Amino acid sequence: MSGPVLITGAAGLIGTWLRGGLPERGWAVRSLDVVPIPDTRPGEEQVVADVTDLSAMVDASTGASAVVHLAGIATESTWPAISHSNIEGTYAALEAARRAGVQRVVLASSNHATGYTPRPGQGLLREADAPHRPDTYYGVSKATMEALGSLYVDRYGLDVVCLRIGSALPEPTTVRQLATWLSPTDTVGLVDAALRAPSPGFAVVWGVSDNTRRWWDLIAAQALGYESVDDAEVYAAALLEVHGRPDPTDPVHTRVGGEYATAAFDAETIEAQQAGPAEP
Ligand SMILES: NC(=O)c1ccc[n+]([C@@H]2O[C@H](COP(=O)([O-])OP(=O)(O)OC[C@H]3O[C@@H](n4cnc5c(N)ncnc54)[C@H](O)[C@@H]3O)[C@@H](O)[C@H]2O)c1
Repeated sequence: MSGPVLITGAAGLIGTWLRGGLPERGWAVRSLDVVPIPDTRPGEEQVVADVTDLSAMVDASTGASAVVHLAGIATESTWPAISHSNIEGTYAALEAARRAGVQRVVLASSNHATGYTPRPGQGLLREADAPHRPDTYYGVSKATMEALGSLYVDRYGLDVVCLRIGSALPEPTTVRQLATWLSPTDTVGLVDAALRAPSPGFAVVWGVSDNTRRWWDLIAAQALGYESVDDAEVYAAALLEVHGRPDPTDPVHTRVGGEYATAAFDAETIEAQQAGPAEP
């Protein structure tokens, strides 16, 4: 491992976990965000830049051993906002890595790239069983992220690992998240595995803890070296007491994207309501 790992979106939720957890696993960190990070750790480098600024991204990527690209809008928004931050941003992250000679890029994709996929009645969904069925403009940006990653592997020989993250939160807060939760510890472990796996080429893996109720398969992530240590089931009794047992005919529970795949979860409606952050 020569050179720090460049983390984009480092001031956010997942970025903050990685800035704490990756150094404990031997990685030096260079943190990039459009907002300054108030609490940089000893040895952590900081860059304040917009991820869509290609020139700034090339500078930030120079000398890095890998890029972990998290920056962007992490929920549904308008098309102009999503396409700029998430699609232009992912292009710039990959193109800057290529120009700077960085071999490996880890991309924060999302289950919402496949959100209209029906939830399996039984058994586990492999990544290959879930082609792109985005549930939102946000989901389209993540499907595009994966497509851009594939291009940079095939055309330029980079290694690109796409993590289709479920719900990365300190703890699950809904019944759906008993299936989709990715714990903070497992988030660090999954990114560490994606950084270390020998020559992964192009890989797409679910980002989920080993939850008793999960519907995503972990075989592909485990092949990278990921070993989940958490299970959302420890929160199940308390959440079921508050929310009750889920109605399997409720549209929120019929598609993997949850409420994102419901009719009401429309960018225009959301903008009009000026909704706060929704369930990831
Ligand atoms: N948290 C989850 O459950 C979850 C699930 C699936 C995918 N993801 C993806 O993981 C990534 C990180 O998610 P998060 O929950 O930490 O989100 P977050 O909103 O907490 O963090 C995103 C960070 O990106 C920064 N950012 C936004 N636009 C930027 C730009 N143009 N240039 C530079 N920085 C910019 C923000 O300032 C913020 O610090 C996102 O790409 C998100 O879509 C998250």
